[in-house]
Amino acid sequence: MDIGKECALSYRGGQLTMEDVALADIAASIGTPVYCYSSTTIERNFRRLQQAFAKTSPRLCYAVKANSNLAVLRLLANLGAGADVVSEGELRRALTAGIRADRIVFAGVGKTPREIAFALESGISQFNVESEAELAAIADIAASSGRRAPVALRVNPDVEAQTNAKITTGTGIDKFGIPASRVLQVYEDICAHRSLEPQGLSVHIGSQLTDLGPFRRAYAQIIKLAHELRNKGLAVPKLDFGGGLGVVYRDETPPSFEDYADMVEEVIDGIECELTLEPGRCLVGDAGVLLSKVICNKTQDSRSFVVLDAAINDLLRPGLYQAHHSIITVAESDSDSLHYRVDFVGPVCETSDTFCRDEHAPPLSPDDLVVMLTAGAYGAVMASTYNSRPLVPEVMIKGGDFEVIRQRGTYEEMLGQDLLPSWLAEVSR
Ligand code: LLP
Repeated sequence: MDIGKECALSYRGGQLTMEDVALADIAASIGTPVYCYSSTTIERNFRRLQQAFAKTSPRLCYAVKANSNLAVLRLLANLGAGADVVSEGELRRALTAGIRADRIVFAGVGKTPREIAFALESGISQFNVESEAELAAIADIAASSGRRAPVALRVNPDVEAQTNAKITTGTGIDKFGIPASRVLQVYEDICAHRSLEPQGLSVHIGSQLTDLGPFRRAYAQIIKLAHELRNKGLAVPKLDFGGGLGVVYRDETPPSFEDYADMVEEVIDGIECELTLEPGRCLVGDAGVLLSKVICNKTQDSRSFVVLDAAINDLLRPGLYQAHHSIITVAESDSDSLHYRVDFVGPVCETSDTFCRDEHAPPLSPDDLVVMLTAGAYGAVMASTYNSRPLVPEVMIKGGDFEVIRQRGTYEEMLGQDLLPSWLAEVSR
């Protein structure tokens, strides 16, 4: 695996570095487990995507859910990114990071009245509306606050994304969007409502797509619907094509940014509209690793386990989706030494706390460092304190510098959040 090309990782003097920082130095000063992100890689990904789409020049509204650290958001804000948010918390993060409200789109099937009111007040660019009930709620809240709410309809195109079922969002049985058959009627209602301002259509069919076919089928439907709406004299100023472009975890071959951009250009076929994309994983996925330390080795029956100090609570993807994150050692090991077959596991009390099975690995001893690759997206954001393990910290690297961008959770903080009811205030024995 050519680790250096994609994620600013390389071995120098036998030690794994991210940009110009030896990961062992981060482990020594911050401890492990810790997420490390290459600032340069995120910037490079953003610029490459922008360049690939030079002809259609969409708004790039970064999907905040992929990695919502304020430093990541500030970096992208400075590059001119907008944001795709799905909660008041994400909206607050995006605004705090300096992303302009008029570059923010708000998706999600369950926006609460409070979230809708806050987003309206903030002046976001558009609500991507997922149901008729939500549309009614937005209209009521807008009317009572004397505002007009900018709304786009999220269409469920009933297209199979050919990715993991748990991250498929655009088939008829998924909870997302409005069926294509309802779009004309609902869009007419939007246009007729005094408190709603029609913005167009949006679609997002899933994540980690490695084939252009499903994208193409979904987008073609949106274009067709847009023409139908316009033929009825309705305004469709914007089309939002969502996110979903896959990255390489093992041996996938996702489309290049350029091929993706060419397909979009072909499908939209010159239609006049403001285009939006909501990329998440493809901007930050390969920019991050989870750095971890070996606690011990254990052999049982025929299996060899390497127990790491990172666990399913720090990186949920393998446990939840059977996702693969390749593991490599921080001290360079030559390929001849990769003759062991081990299961990398964490210390959490669940069998699902297994990162990889039957991985080739060199002999590993306690305190040896390893990294899990391609952990910049849906890594830290999905971490929890399960097993009362403090939240994992995050570090951003730029050139030869690194800084902590989220501190490690503390036990004081963790215990301080629980409250004892008055009748249990005392220990009775
Ligand atoms: N737009 C919408 C409306 C979305 O729901 C998502 C992701 C995106 C954009 C960004 O998709 P991306 O470009 O990152 O594929 N936790 C899962 C992924 C869940 C994705 C949810 N929606 C994982 O770890 O694979």
